[in-house]
Amino acid sequence: MHNLQELSGFMGGLTPSATLAIAAMAKALKQQGEDVVSMSAGEPDFDTPEVIKQACIDAINQGKVYYTPASGLMELKKALVEKFAKDNGIATAPERIVIAPGAKFSVFSAVAALCGPGDEVIIPAPYWLSYPEMVKATGAKVVPIMTTAENNYELDPAELEARITSHTKLLILNTPSNPTGAVYRKSTLEKIAEVAVRKNIMILSDEIYEKLVYDKDFPHVSIASLNDRVADITVTANGFSKTYSMTGWRLGYLTAPLWLAKRIIAFQSHSTSNPTTFVQWAGITALREAGEDVEKMRKAFSHRRDLIYRLVSEIDGIKTHRPQGAFYLFCDVSSFGLSADDFCKELLEKELLAVVPGTGFSAPESIRLSYACSENNIYEAVKRLSNFCTSLRKRG
Ligand SMILES: Cc1ncc(COP(=O)(O)O)c(C=O)c1O
Repeated sequence: MHNLQELSGFMGGLTPSATLAIAAMAKALKQQGEDVVSMSAGEPDFDTPEVIKQACIDAINQGKVYYTPASGLMELKKALVEKFAKDNGIATAPERIVIAPGAKFSVFSAVAALCGPGDEVIIPAPYWLSYPEMVKATGAKVVPIMTTAENNYELDPAELEARITSHTKLLILNTPSNPTGAVYRKSTLEKIAEVAVRKNIMILSDEIYEKLVYDKDFPHVSIASLNDRVADITVTANGFSKTYSMTGWRLGYLTAPLWLAKRIIAFQSHSTSNPTTFVQWAGITALREAGEDVEKMRKAFSHRRDLIYRLVSEIDGIKTHRPQGAFYLFCDVSSFGLSADDFCKELLEKELLAVVPGTGFSAPESIRLSYACSENNIYEAVKRLSNFCTSLRKRG
């Protein structure tokens, strides 16, 4: 007799998302009436802009409630072609765009369309914890390359070159980065692009935090915009969740070389089919009419970034790096002699502050603080974090 549980293929090795698990624990404590402060969320705390909500309601009222093509609405694809040209300097076409129920699925379908057993995928670490799990789900091998705060958490092009083998299929880049908040400099991207083109590997560039950048010296740069040769080997993935505060709406997209877009569309047509129709219509409005709302949210995040970086830098024993984008502060807590898992667990139990351990991001000595919350929340959270660190130092 077969043990049916052993017949799970590559999926058997996957672990559930740790960020979602901590957020769920914090929510459960809150529901029990505990005064929990959470810095674990990977989502903006703003409401979706009114103009987008209204566009969705209008679409429903107009009867836009049926299937669209599996790869998405032509009208939204055209709006995305304009967006890629204007915001990213990427020339694409509707047939190269695939719209999906969330950027997570866009990233996954690109990985699934490119990789399989025997392939190697390079992922700069610390990384968004879903990347390695997605790679494992295809049977391919994860090759992490550690980056450091001293190097602005950017992948070293020379190390990239050294780690490429005849099995390397793909490099996954994420700028601005979850969890470090680092924004890659154009000069680094140029060197990485040169290596990737010369070594003939594909690039998947996840740019979901592109609008959340805070420093003039660190603008967002899309690697596919650098030249035609790198555009030919690059998939650029993005989504509406973070830019427009639309996490629950589930809307993401990618542009890929035509041969690959065709494969991804085939995969999507047999898995999820199209993302929700009226949400796609609202997506068009988001792209065309919500620019001012996005800028307001970006400014608020920028203030919070300054605030949390200043406050946390003052805590003895925590080493942190000034993030240039996204809404995370990444902190090395190794000086306290606890693993990040134990640090986060005790912090939640003793101070009722929820933060995410870096373990799942391949950084077991670090924690990730999300500043997608009010400034009051930031003050309170840092007070609790500081109290906890003081108690740990006293403990010796
Ligand atoms: C780096 C990164 N990529 C992709 C996603 C997925 O976003 P969504 O599926 O909500 O569009 C997230 C969400 O946390 C993320 O942090």
